[in-house]
Amino acid sequence: RNLCEVGQKLIGSCLQFAVDCEGRPLRTIEGVSREPLGAKLEQAFVDCGAVQCGFCTPGMVVQARHFLDAHPNATRDEIKRGIEGNLCRCTGYVKIVDAIEAAARGDR
Ligand code: FES
Repeated sequence: RNLCEVGQKLIGSCLQFAVDCEGRPLRTIEGVSREPLGAKLEQAFVDCGAVQCGFCTPGMVVQARHFLDAHPNATRDEIKRGIEGNLCRCTGYVKIVDAIEAAARGDR
């Protein structure tokens, strides 16, 4: 699912009315991509083979950035819990967790 941040809260983009965001900080994948951690996550997703069809990728990257922002030293199990509720039909999640873990460690 595609996600965005409104204020400090992660929300499904398709459930958020634009008019309700007026005057509130809003962060989408485009904004996340311009941040160092977002760019690092995107490169790690590519390097780790965590992108197949790409449908889930923007939401995964937004969710991972949101999670790592609050939990920069997360363990692998914490990362798995951190992306709960976000579905990927292609990768089986192992490569996605690898990518988030690599970005968190600064390997990418
Ligand atoms: Fe296809 Fe995740 S890469 S749904």
